[in-house]
Amino acid sequence: MADSSGAPNSRTENSRELFERASRIVPGGVNSPVRAFRSVGGTPRFMVSGAGCRMTDADGNTYVDLVCSWGPLIVGHAHPHVIDAVGRAAAKGTSFGTPTPGEVALAEELTARTGVDKIRLVNSGTEATMSALRLARAATGRTKIVKFAGCYHGHVDPLLASAGSGVLTLALPDSPGVVGTDETIVLPYNDVDAVKRAFAENPGQIACVITEAAAGNMGVVAPRDGFNRELAAIAHADGALVILDEVMTGFRVSKNGWSGYSGDTADLYTYGKVMGGGLPAAAFGGRDELMSRMAPEGPVYQAGTLSGNPLACAAGLATLELCTDELYAKLDATSVTLQGLATKALAEAGVPHRVSTAGNMFSVFFTDADVPNLEAAQTQDAAAYRAFFHAMLDRGVYLPPSAYEAWFVSGALDDDALGLIADALPHAARAAAKVAK
Ligand SMILES: Cc1ncc(COP(=O)(O)O)c(C=O)c1O
Repeated sequence: MADSSGAPNSRTENSRELFERASRIVPGGVNSPVRAFRSVGGTPRFMVSGAGCRMTDADGNTYVDLVCSWGPLIVGHAHPHVIDAVGRAAAKGTSFGTPTPGEVALAEELTARTGVDKIRLVNSGTEATMSALRLARAATGRTKIVKFAGCYHGHVDPLLASAGSGVLTLALPDSPGVVGTDETIVLPYNDVDAVKRAFAENPGQIACVITEAAAGNMGVVAPRDGFNRELAAIAHADGALVILDEVMTGFRVSKNGWSGYSGDTADLYTYGKVMGGGLPAAAFGGRDELMSRMAPEGPVYQAGTLSGNPLACAAGLATLELCTDELYAKLDATSVTLQGLATKALAEAGVPHRVSTAGNMFSVFFTDADVPNLEAAQTQDAAAYRAFFHAMLDRGVYLPPSAYEAWFVSGALDDDALGLIADALPHAARAAAKVAK
């Protein structure tokens, strides 16, 4: 979908052919729904390589990447330190099904950064939240759970009620085939009174409240000041636990995630994305008294053939070695620069918008209303985002192919890349203005 100004980065012949082949044998042609471009239209770009802040697709188009594999690539693509660590690990063997030193090193790094007593490594954020939920139910002997509309915690059955991200992007109702959501109480995000009411109506029955530490799956919506602390106080007063889902925010918005950034605390935490450095690794953790209930120390079962995989641990550890105070200062500054550029371009084009931030994560809502929750996020002008997205894509900037996803910066963004984004934004803002309501 090249725009009328004849942008150069719109060759799609090879991606189109790959997509057609894939669509014959893979549902929707993709292995994770939002990749399919359904909400923005056009051909999903099949990437063949990445270096630093740039990636190249099957037609030779290059893009400055503001998705970063949906968060993990905080130091950019193929960082030499990460590639070297993965290569050295691979040369020694890819998996053993036994404990390995790399797992110990990664777990030590994670506990040192977060202050949790114990951590269990898994393969995906979905597994982390699924396991933390099981542990919370086992520890409390209760079954009900509270989650917030628009928060996505992976495709765990009871958490797929009013989930954001792909479910929202594709305008799907909560997925068929899901069981157990009758035990899930869904509340509006950032609404303390709703949390109070839920506990008043279900005394002694709620095992846990799970919340994204800062929401990033309905677009970025930070918790209102004190929200996470107040919900924890309400939950604890009733004997329920709090799970802070840091899969997206963990090690991204600060050395130890949103918790370190804001001071919010919880009983259990889930991590993923950055801690795997672009390979499949995730984790859940908490204080000893809870985590020691996990098998084989305790009775709560959870396991994985590839959990703590040596390559993933090496990538995660190498990435975290690069996650220094200097890197976070750079990410914060880059994020502010990009927010300013986007605001300027959209304001000059007269496009209603709100830049919404949570630390260095941000997204642009195409609405002029405040966005504290999912209901408000859904008032945005999806057609305007679609036009904006394609104009950026055609000029070599890869944004999330959905108006409900966070934009991610990496430490690899250089001045040339920022210049390219700055040049592209006014075109994209004008494209959005043409279709804006
Ligand atoms: C906050 C949050 N929790 C959990 C998940 C699920 O992680 P994964 O896709 O690794 O299963 C995601 C994925 O985007 C997420 O953003």
